[in-house]
Amino acid sequence: MEWDSILPIADKYGLKIIDDSCEALGAEYKGRKIGQFGDAATFAFYPNKQMTTGEGGIIVTDNDEIARLTRSMRNQGRGEMGAWLEHERLGYNYRMDEMSAALGVSQLHRLETFLVKRERVAQMYTERLRGFSWVRPPVVKPHVRMSWFVYVVTLAEGLNRDPVMRKMEALGVPTRAYFAPIHLQPYIREQLGTGRGMLPVTESIAARTIALPFHNNLTKEHVELVVGALAEAASVA
Ligand SMILES: Cc1ncc(COP(=O)(O)O)c(C=O)c1O
Repeated sequence: MEWDSILPIADKYGLKIIDDSCEALGAEYKGRKIGQFGDAATFAFYPNKQMTTGEGGIIVTDNDEIARLTRSMRNQGRGEMGAWLEHERLGYNYRMDEMSAALGVSQLHRLETFLVKRERVAQMYTERLRGFSWVRPPVVKPHVRMSWFVYVVTLAEGLNRDPVMRKMEALGVPTRAYFAPIHLQPYIREQLGTGRGMLPVTESIAARTIALPFHNNLTKEHVELVVGALAEAASVA
């Protein structure tokens, strides 16, 4: 996210920013860690993320009011200083159990190692894919330290992702279709009346993006295998 563009807009219109950093733990914008730019930010620790607590996540904020409110909401709406079992608001049970938190603390100590390993895998992919006209690797701006969650490539216009994915699967390389546009999600369609054709650029790009296999310990040979299968599937090998 371009924080230097977003923050003045929020300032101008008096908006609060809740930053979904669930895929960006450890990332930096102009030398500052992500999570501190908005009023609050979220990080997720599902096992596919850079680090995990099994399930769960955290909200970070330097706003005392948001901190109090979210602590209360995760604890069935109880007030922090209130009487035992006094519910000040409607809340949820979003408490993280101690075992998960302990796993998270140990994972946090290893986070930098994970990030470096993931950066290495991403670089191997990018170097291998550079120069191909039929696929675009992810672009990272120079003032950003990327924290790699997934590695998503975009096929050139005219190439259809779905048969490419099916062919890759047949070649033994599983991939995922990332990401579905929000305006085409059934719930949003129903709530807001959105639909196909409303955001043609988004829809065109979404129909051409593929998440390639990605984990900390992927080797050069694995990358070679994946890129070979991708090229074959896109019939340009
Ligand atoms: C950008 C983003 N936001 C939110 C979430 C949801 O995280 P959780 O399932 O831990 O609530 C994810 C999970 O993949 C995500 O990638």
